[in-house]
Amino acid sequence: VEVITIELPGKSCRIEIEHGLLSRLGERIMEVRKTEQVAVVTDANVDRRYGATVRRSLRLAGLKPLWIRLPAGERYKTLRTVERVYDRLVQARFERGSLLVALGGGVVGDLTGFVAATYLRGVDVIQAPTTLLAQVDASIGGKTAVDHPKGKNLIGAFHHPRCVVIDPNTLSTLPRRELISGMAEVIKYGVIYDAEFFGYLERNMKAVLNLEKEPVAHMLRKSCAAKAFVVQHDEREKDLRRILNYGHTLGHAIETATGYRRVTHGEAIAIGMMAAGRLGQSLGLCGPEVVLRQKNLLERAGLPTALPKMPMGGIVKAMQLDKKVKGGLVHFVLPEAIGRVVVRPVGWDLIKKALRPTGWG
Ligand SMILES: NC(=O)c1ccc[n+]([C@@H]2O[C@H](COP(=O)([O-])OP(=O)(O)OC[C@H]3O[C@@H](n4cnc5c(N)ncnc54)[C@H](O)[C@@H]3O)[C@@H](O)[C@H]2O)c1
Repeated sequence: VEVITIELPGKSCRIEIEHGLLSRLGERIMEVRKTEQVAVVTDANVDRRYGATVRRSLRLAGLKPLWIRLPAGERYKTLRTVERVYDRLVQARFERGSLLVALGGGVVGDLTGFVAATYLRGVDVIQAPTTLLAQVDASIGGKTAVDHPKGKNLIGAFHHPRCVVIDPNTLSTLPRRELISGMAEVIKYGVIYDAEFFGYLERNMKAVLNLEKEPVAHMLRKSCAAKAFVVQHDEREKDLRRILNYGHTLGHAIETATGYRRVTHGEAIAIGMMAAGRLGQSLGLCGPEVVLRQKNLLERAGLPTALPKMPMGGIVKAMQLDKKVKGGLVHFVLPEAIGRVVVRPVGWDLIKKALRPTGWG
């Protein structure tokens, strides 16, 4: 088993990666906490594919979990669903020493994490992420949230999982578009933190997308290590952690302006990364080869690098409402080289100019 540990004041979080690990989830749970009160929260899609394996594994470990199955999809990441989960926990008289397990993608992970942060002022949670996005990003770092009708992730809390259990086998049933979408965050880690890893992806993208075992394990290990490093050094998102927002300033604006329907999160981030690269180049922070290498790798992963045809006004408006925008300047994470970024405030004129080659205007 590959193990990455995040050490934080007063707590630590283990990230474990191994093919087939879900069939040993019961044993992993017992190692984290010996309790009879375990609830598994999952969604209908994941339950259908992995529910039996996980139930068997928990039974073998002597556990009889409370099984909470939610409908799948972002539109259920709401306080109403949170309440449904609270109801089940209260009915089953779950106590402070109980443990929640989030089995699913980022939606299940964020929602279960939020329940764990708030139920009885906090109970332990184990994340068992089953999408690439959740394995390399959402399950790590302790950010939990649900959506409000006025916006995504508006209600949340910081609450680290005790353990993140990653079984790369789950990626084999993921729709292709979801897999590719998660790859945007993977490539992001190369650009913001790890030039050597970026080079590895350039050489092995095909093997990773074909889900060959060793390349996939390496990709997960390096991605989790990058996120773990950043989180460990900046738990509450004050400074360093901002670099994780690379590609997200424009990315979020695209998602908002398209009503979260036309492009996936990863596709929007890929376009945002290209915009940030071009901005970095036009500010003289990096050379054209940085932008070109990034473009080639994103394209090899099957990600878009140009803006979809859409009115520019919506995107600009969405960016202006972004919480990272201060005093008319947008704070962009910009590349200096592959593996190194800086945060700089940038004015609107330059933003519009730099975005033109991505298909804008
Ligand atoms: N907390 C954080 O730091 C953080 C970071 C990034 C994203 N997020 C959140 O993550 C969410 C997106 O996560 P996501 O992309 O995993 O979406 P998701 O959880 O909706 O999963 C995508 C779809 O794939 C299905 N699925 C999950 N695993 C599967 C598998 N192995 N095989 C087949 N189908 C499977 C799900 O049922 C769902 O329909 C967003 O709500 C976002 O806000 C949180």
